[in-house]
Amino acid sequence: MPEKIVAGNWKMNTLPEQGLTLSESVLGALPEILGCKVILCPPFTHLDRVIRLLKGTSVLPGSQNVSAYKQGAYTGEVSADMLAAMGIQYSIVGHSERRQYFSERGDTLKNKLVRLKEVGIIPIFCVGETLEERESGQEGTVVLTQLNEALPETLENSTELVVAYEPVWAIGTGKTASPEQASEMHGVIRQDLIHRYGSSIGGEISILYGGSVKPDNAAELFSMDDIDGGLIGGAALNAADFISIIKAFK
Ligand code: PGA
Repeated sequence: MPEKIVAGNWKMNTLPEQGLTLSESVLGALPEILGCKVILCPPFTHLDRVIRLLKGTSVLPGSQNVSAYKQGAYTGEVSADMLAAMGIQYSIVGHSERRQYFSERGDTLKNKLVRLKEVGIIPIFCVGETLEERESGQEGTVVLTQLNEALPETLENSTELVVAYEPVWAIGTGKTASPEQASEMHGVIRQDLIHRYGSSIGGEISILYGGSVKPDNAAELFSMDDIDGGLIGGAALNAADFISIIKAFK
């Protein structure tokens, strides 16, 4: 069975104190036994403090981005080595907002995955189609191309990679893919991963759904075939909502 995961992507929200309060509220409300792994991805400016707070708890820290370069004169970038030195265990790569606003694709994303692998940080690699692409029936091709452009040729085990399917038209819009639409695309991704890495690895990689996951739709989405959890944006900024999404795995 792929590992069940709920990850919170705070995006460019919260000041450091608010981030710490949010982390504390999540920790304080978490049941001791969780049905899934929980990851928090705060902005870089408060990663260090959140990491210290999470230390020794069942909640793991993640970053929202990483540089495609290893080291050197890349003003404003944060390297995989720096993240690893801080104790980061996961990093989001290829989020649609980075694809859309920062033109990240293809080789840049591939190199980010290489950098993360060098230091043992697990990528949460995001794929997803725009509304236009879905309306013209291209969602499958778009997502398969995104996987093909960046994924490594081989993996040693299934926990080295997490994939997140996030239809762009569902992110932050309040429009969720129906459980059937999401499950269908997760099936397409699963088949691709199996084809790429074989069933013992490809069949066990966690595939998360992201795009307006809320407390009232999480349980149904998470009950679908090949949906192994969620990447949560807006609802991760509210501790009570985030906790009830986590509790959808019981
Ligand atoms: P949303 O964002 O839950 O606010 O739609 C999800 C994401 O962008 O990861």
